[in-house]
Amino acid sequence: MKTQSNQERSKKLEDIMDDKKAVGQYAASLVKDGDVVGLGTGSTTAFTIKELGRRIKEEGISIYGIPTSFQAKLSAVESNIPITTLDEHDIDIAIDGADEVDPTLCLLKGRGGALLQEKIIDYNAERFVVVCEERKLVEKLGKNFPVTIEVFPLAYRKVFEALSSFGNPVLRDGGKKDGPVMTDNGNFIIDLFTSVENPKSMEKELNDIPGIFENGIFTSKCEVVFMKNGKIVVLRS
Ligand code: A5P
Repeated sequence: MKTQSNQERSKKLEDIMDDKKAVGQYAASLVKDGDVVGLGTGSTTAFTIKELGRRIKEEGISIYGIPTSFQAKLSAVESNIPITTLDEHDIDIAIDGADEVDPTLCLLKGRGGALLQEKIIDYNAERFVVVCEERKLVEKLGKNFPVTIEVFPLAYRKVFEALSSFGNPVLRDGGKKDGPVMTDNGNFIIDLFTSVENPKSMEKELNDIPGIFENGIFTSKCEVVFMKNGKIVVLRS
């Protein structure tokens, strides 16, 4: 059996990072002078945020950013992007990553645990642009990633029980912290392993369970940007 060499693996990773950079920077070019921009979380939007910083410095554009996580806020500060809040401004354009995209452009998000603030920012933007790689396109949501769910700690056991009828729920581990991961908002994450048959109804059904703040199924209107054969492709819902 032929196994993948370390060299092949690192070349593949390099190609993936090149694609992330290309779409991340492309999305930054959609931002207009004076825009308020929702700043997404993850490795792809990190390139967008950096590029927006460059455009502020070199092109003199004037924008505000509204971050979707602590990570996005730190990147914005590093890139000298002035930060504002939803209390002060509406959002012209939000640029965010995704874990999976289905043929109707419904998304799964939340690998990085930032889904709650992401959904608030992305759903409230005039224009929502999703930046990802071609490998994120799937026939049905749930193929490679779970549905991420942000849960109030007090409700953990009852939510876990309720989720068992939707699939296989797993409390996300803290990794370098003993016990569960805590979100930027002080909540737990439950990853629900399941095949998403109807994204729109499942998004609503999950949020009807008391104790669930939000889930990672995103069904709002969006534009999805990815690289195919070295070219930018844009799909619109
Ligand atoms: C954060 O919780 C996620 O929703 C990310 O936006 C998503 O996982 C995409 O991340 P990458 O750009 O790193 O693939």
